[in-house]
Amino acid sequence: MIQKPRGTQDIYNQEAKQWSALQDKLRNILAKFNYTEMFTPIFESMDLFVRSVGDSSDIVSKEMYELIDKKGRKFVLRPEGTASAVRAVIENKLFAPETIPFKTFYIGPMFRYERPQVGRYRQFHQLGLEVFGPDSIYQDIEVVNVANTIMKDLNLWDKTQINLNYLVTGEQRIEYIKVLKAYLSNFDLCSDCSLRLEKNALRVLDCKIDGNKFNDVPDMTDFLTKEDKVKYDILIEELKNMGMKIVVDKQLVRGLDYYTGFIFELKYLDESLGGQQTVIAGGRYNNLVSELGGPNLPAAGFAIGLERLIIILKENKNNLVENDQIDFYTIALSEKGMKLNLEVMNTLVENGYSIDTDYMNRSMKSAFKQAEKNNAKNVIILGDQEFDSRVITIKNLETKTSIEASIDQLIEKIKGDK
Ligand code: HAM
Repeated sequence: MIQKPRGTQDIYNQEAKQWSALQDKLRNILAKFNYTEMFTPIFESMDLFVRSVGDSSDIVSKEMYELIDKKGRKFVLRPEGTASAVRAVIENKLFAPETIPFKTFYIGPMFRYERPQVGRYRQFHQLGLEVFGPDSIYQDIEVVNVANTIMKDLNLWDKTQINLNYLVTGEQRIEYIKVLKAYLSNFDLCSDCSLRLEKNALRVLDCKIDGNKFNDVPDMTDFLTKEDKVKYDILIEELKNMGMKIVVDKQLVRGLDYYTGFIFELKYLDESLGGQQTVIAGGRYNNLVSELGGPNLPAAGFAIGLERLIIILKENKNNLVENDQIDFYTIALSEKGMKLNLEVMNTLVENGYSIDTDYMNRSMKSAFKQAEKNNAKNVIILGDQEFDSRVITIKNLETKTSIEASIDQLIEKIKGDK
């Protein structure tokens, strides 16, 4: 038997309904903040991620699914969406004064060759949100607020915690790295971190193996410019004022190279996610558009791991599927019954009702079981007699009552019965 690739999932039936309901809900929330959806390719030039996420990041150095096309060009299945959004902004000139701020989001599969475990897959889905144009700490507050609102609307707020840090940039970052390297030289680092120390010393701070050794790590925020320090203070204060559980986390650095200012990870503090408690993560990346060949265009955003949300919602028995009933279940008993069913089906659907039909010639008992399994409100049996008389009986499974209706006045009869 051919099996699905490791770290991927088949999602169907009730779980697929929950996925759709979640996406509908998230789309509605983002519409309230005036973000519009965008669609970009699932595969992109490899270079796009090497130059944005960074060649020393785990994503680029170990986790990309690489494709070579017939002409020998190198592509990858996208490991994340920010780089694609930035490429699209540059390519479609969405940086013109009249098109900014450009507030957008995307929902779709991402691919990383990681070791699969609870909440960690090789194909997973993100909802990413990006805003291009404003370079305001209040925009950053809005970004975190959207993430927070999502958790609130999903009734997941009680165990939500937001870890924050503010990355030094420019000259200050060079200074900080010097101090950090001197500090880290006191430790016997794991093999990965020994390499990272040279290429990207910041990444050593959130190492899963060594990270908890660094108790008195030099605080990056001591190296911030006065202006950035003020911004960071406003951010912390306003988020706290909004009631969010904030943890100032000086070891938070994020695994992608493009961040330039505030960064955050929203965690859901519950066992159900195992070690993968970060559900939403993001921050500001003011240099990425220009680094990828566009103009100077500040930006910020985040991405949500949808599988992780689905796991938490399940754990909380939070079913988002609102209308899980079908209005009518028809059981077609004969050739004539099936013909009549076509007319009934179209009449009902055209008038806004949902319908499913049993074509499987099963016993009446199992057809009724099927109706119940599909959560049908009404059952209609269609056979030769109904075809000839054009009169049908509608059995209401909830009230256990029946009404007769002529096919030609079906809708009037149904509406009158309500
Ligand atoms: P990221 O931290 O790599 O950031 O991923 C964001 C979220 O995607 C994670 O917090 C997690 O919920 C989910 N995620 C990541 N990898 C996996 C996986 N293997 N399996 C399941 N879920 C996963 C980014 O991707 C940035 N593009 C976020 C961003 C947007 N920053 C600015 N704008």
